[in-house]
Amino acid sequence: MILKDAKKLDLSYIPDKILCRDEEINRLKILVKTGRALISGGVGTGKTLLARYIGGDAYVNCYMNRTEHRVLEEILKQIKPRFNPAGLPTQKLWKEIEEGKMLIFDEIDGMHTDELRHFAYTLSRQYELGKKISYIAITRNWMILKQVINDDAIWSTFANNAIVELRPYKWEEIKEILEYRAKESLITGSYDDDCLSLIADIALDAPGHMRTAIDLLRNSALVAESKQHNKIEAEDIREANREDWISDIASMEVDEALILLATALACKNKAYADLEEIKEIVKIKEEEYNTKIKFETNFQNLLQQGFIHKSKKGYTILNCPSYLLIEEIEERLKIR
Ligand SMILES: Nc1ncnc2c1ncn2[C@@H]1O[C@H](COP(=O)(O)OP(=O)(O)O)[C@@H](O)[C@H]1O
Ligand SMILES: [Mg+2]
Repeated sequence: MILKDAKKLDLSYIPDKILCRDEEINRLKILVKTGRALISGGVGTGKTLLARYIGGDAYVNCYMNRTEHRVLEEILKQIKPRFNPAGLPTQKLWKEIEEGKMLIFDEIDGMHTDELRHFAYTLSRQYELGKKISYIAITRNWMILKQVINDDAIWSTFANNAIVELRPYKWEEIKEILEYRAKESLITGSYDDDCLSLIADIALDAPGHMRTAIDLLRNSALVAESKQHNKIEAEDIREANREDWISDIASMEVDEALILLATALACKNKAYADLEEIKEIVKIKEEEYNTKIKFETNFQNLLQQGFIHKSKKGYTILNCPSYLLIEEIEERLKIR
């Protein structure tokens, strides 16, 4: 067993501590007191987590509720469960939201454009009319949101000077967060530093960023458990992150294929290999296949195409288990 508490890796779970965002949390706390904040940042930068951590009386995902009416219905469902909003005009729904409520509008750019404009307008109007409804709105990119709203007056009441921008985490930060999250959810001794580094390597440039990191931590643990390993191994992570590119090998130049083979052999059952190890195996393969391998340019090509990854900790393969790659390349080299 590896997973001690799998729930703690759910997307909706709010950990006790949020690491690497102290400044942003402080600023958010101050802004919330003034009544409004807009969190802006890419996927997996911790936007939803930060907003939920600060907390509110209601939370709506505007991507799932794309009209003003649906958003208000969802809020009222949470703050006035007995109230029936069906058939009522939006104006009436606004009136039902009492002063002093704190609302979270996640993925606000997911609303239909006209609805979003009107919604932002009405929300900022509430404020001007003296009815204090506090909110945190969340968007992937505040500049695009500003363009969509396309009205300086609305924008200025809606979000001016209230933006908290979440920059992507650095590799070291992803690792630090992973260490904490792994400690909470996995059994001690079931993972090591290299394994978290490998996950951080994958997450750093992945479209899901920190979300990818947490998902991969859980999925690697599941793979390891299914293989009855008592700790997460590098190959379990590669398996969990497996992508469908193995067929590309068929069209690979022989030198490239041999260097990739050497790298896969060097990384077998471990996270990273250094250049010397790879070159050593390349030499052996030169003898075995009775050929002279042009190393430098081909190695650079493999790096550039993403078959091999250069990390702070060495060279590695991120998205295919080594044994599979070795098998496939050896097969390919038989028919050259
Ligand atoms: N600073 C952090 N500390 C701990 N966990 C984090 C941190 N930032 C992000 N996470 C975790 O990463 C995942 C993605 O975060 P999320 O808030 O959903 O990102 P976003 O809403 O920006 O896409 C969640 O599982 C969240 O708990
Ligand atoms: Mg989110």
